[in-house]
Amino acid sequence: MTNFDFKRHRRLRRTQGIRDMVRETYLHKEDLIYPIFVKDGENIKNEIASMPGIYQWSLDRVDAEIEEVVKLGIRSIILFGVPAEKNEIGSSAYAAEGIVQRATRQIKKNHQELTVIADTCLCQFTDHGHCGVIENGEVLNDESLSLLVKTAVSQVEAGADIIAPSNMMDGFVAAIRHGLDEAGYNHIPIMSYAVKYASSFYGPFRDAAHSSPQFGDRKTYQMDPANRVEALREAKSDMEEGADFLIVKPALSYLDIIRDVKNNFHLPVVAYNVSGEYSMIKAASLNGWIDEKGVVMEKLVSMKRAGTDLILTYFAKDVARWLDESK
Ligand code: PBG
Repeated sequence: MTNFDFKRHRRLRRTQGIRDMVRETYLHKEDLIYPIFVKDGENIKNEIASMPGIYQWSLDRVDAEIEEVVKLGIRSIILFGVPAEKNEIGSSAYAAEGIVQRATRQIKKNHQELTVIADTCLCQFTDHGHCGVIENGEVLNDESLSLLVKTAVSQVEAGADIIAPSNMMDGFVAAIRHGLDEAGYNHIPIMSYAVKYASSFYGPFRDAAHSSPQFGDRKTYQMDPANRVEALREAKSDMEEGADFLIVKPALSYLDIIRDVKNNFHLPVVAYNVSGEYSMIKAASLNGWIDEKGVVMEKLVSMKRAGTDLILTYFAKDVARWLDESK
C-alpha cells in the first residue's frame, strides 16, 4: 500500500472487455473513400512505382478492381483521370468522352449503390500541368473557373454522385454551385478541397496522375504549410459559397487543422491521407521496419480522433480487410 493519493487509470485498461467499453474513437468502413486512377488506353494495369499496390487502370480492366472494392464493403470511390491527350486548356477534363466521364458511366451502370466522387481539376489534363489557365506564366483565376464548371457539369452528366473540386482557384465553389444549379443539378453535393496545402507529400500522386507542373510550383494557389488561421478563412468562404463537405489535405501533418475545421464549421470533414503519406508507410513496411497494419490503423484512428468524419485513403482496401478480421 502506498501512503499517498493518486489516481488509478489502469483500472480501465485491465481487460480487453473494459478497454473496448471505454474506447472513444472508431473507424468504420463507411468512413473510407478509395481513390482510383483511370487511364485512357487498353489492357492497362500499371503499378505506380512510388505507390506499391496502387495501379492505373484502363476501363477494360477496371471492373475487377471495382468488384473487389464493393466486395470489401467500401461504399465510395474518387476517380482521378489520366488522359491520352493533354492541351493548354485541359479540354479532355470536360469532354463527354473524357476518361473520367466514361469511367463514371461504366462504373455507375454496374454499381448504382457505389458513391462515385469525381475529382474536378485541370492539372492532369493540361500540357503545362497547372490547375488553371496560363497567361504569361501566371495561373489565371477567373478565366479558369468556367472550365472547372464545364468539367463538373460533364462529370455529373456522366453520373457522378459528388463533385470534388481540388484546384484551389478562388471562388470555385460558388462558380461550380451556380453552374450545377443552372444545369439542373442542385441535388449534387460539392466536396470541396477547402484547405489544400502546397505539400511535398503529393510527389507520388504526380507520378500516378502525370500531373507535375512543367514550370514553377503551385504556391500561388495552394496554401503555405505554415498557416493555420488562413485555413479557417478558406474553409469559411467555401462553406459560405455552398460546399457540403470540407476536405483538409494532406492529413497527417495537419491534424491540428482538421480539429480547427471540425470545431468551427458544422459540415462533414474529410481528411485526405495523401500519396506521400501512403508511400512512406509502404516503404518502411516493405523493408520490415514497421508493422504496417498497426501503423496504418493508428494513423487513421488519429485522424478520426482529430475530428474528421471521412478519410480518403489509398489504404482503404487494406483497412476494410483488417476491420473484417477484427470482428
Ligand atoms: C490535383 C490533385 C493533387 C492531389 C489530388 N488532386 C495533386 C496536386 O495538387 O499536385 C494529391 C493527392 C495525393 O497526393 O494523394 N489537383
